Amino acid sequence: MAKKFKVVVTRRIPEAGLQLLKKAGFEVKISPYNRILTRPELKKFVKGADAILSLLTDKIDGEILDAAGPQLKIVANYAVGYDNFKIDDFKTRKIYATNTPGVLTETVAEHTIGLLFAIAQRIVEADEFVRQKKFRGWEPMLFLGTDVRNKTLGIVGLGRIGGEVAKRMRDGFGLKIIYFDVKRNKELEKELGIKYVSFSQLLKESDFISIHVPLLPTTHHMFTLKEFKMMKPTAFLINTSRGAIINERDLVTALKKKIIAGAALDVYEFEPKITPDLLKLPNTVLLPHIASASIETRSKMAEMAAKNIIAVLRGGKPINPIF
Ligand code: GLV
Ligand code: GLV
Repeated sequence: MAKKFKVVVTRRIPEAGLQLLKKAGFEVKISPYNRILTRPELKKFVKGADAILSLLTDKIDGEILDAAGPQLKIVANYAVGYDNFKIDDFKTRKIYATNTPGVLTETVAEHTIGLLFAIAQRIVEADEFVRQKKFRGWEPMLFLGTDVRNKTLGIVGLGRIGGEVAKRMRDGFGLKIIYFDVKRNKELEKELGIKYVSFSQLLKESDFISIHVPLLPTTHHMFTLKEFKMMKPTAFLINTSRGAIINERDLVTALKKKIIAGAALDVYEFEPKITPDLLKLPNTVLLPHIASASIETRSKMAEMAAKNIIAVLRGGKPINPIF
């Protein structure tokens, strides 16, 4: 009998994906730890794998690919973002890399909108107030927030997720939508009825700014004190993409000095570390990188990663290649 292909999964993911891999007849090895593997653990764990199912918390570069061995054919990331992959190292070794685009788009868009409302209406702050038993009855000036309708939402990065946020906020809540992207998309502009502006114009005109670009050398620290100073003092920043798009230390300064009104964040520059002062500021909403975390979507992501592995180990091409 032919040797079974070995698939290593760096942390337990939803059963739907694991079942597909097992049904395909592979030997499936799941990390025994319910935590991020250390670098030495990861190197040891991938040894002998034909396929790796990785997480965005696993840095995958030449050293890890070589630790797996020459039989390695694919690394399937259980995420749409793949800034954890050193792509050049995959290319030189001719190893496939895949991600999970599309299936999480609407969930992340919904989460982004949830964050927007949470920060505008001070939902988290107010919830804390109630839990601390401070509610003494209705008050005329208690937790005054900001209306959302008729405001201007600036989308930074009009990809799949940015487009879905734009559509929902325009159709559902009557906001004016402007966007900036390195690639102008006139077709989508027309379809969504939204306007392309320069980055500086977007900073100046937006009441809400939502970030939807991937982390690249060109998007790293796209937001620093200089950009915050161009924003309205009443503006809110929402980030569900990658933390390092923002200089987090500068964001703390901007929030402390009321240069901008608030920030709702799902991601951080040095995850899982968070700049301590962010935790003390009332004008923030802070989530633990969960924007794609619905039961339905995480199952679909698991299946998608598994299907890419199955396609490649059966001798075909991956369904969602990164390059
Ligand atoms: C989550 O951040 C993802 O990239 O899927
Ligand atoms: C990610 O799915 C994006 O293109 O926004």
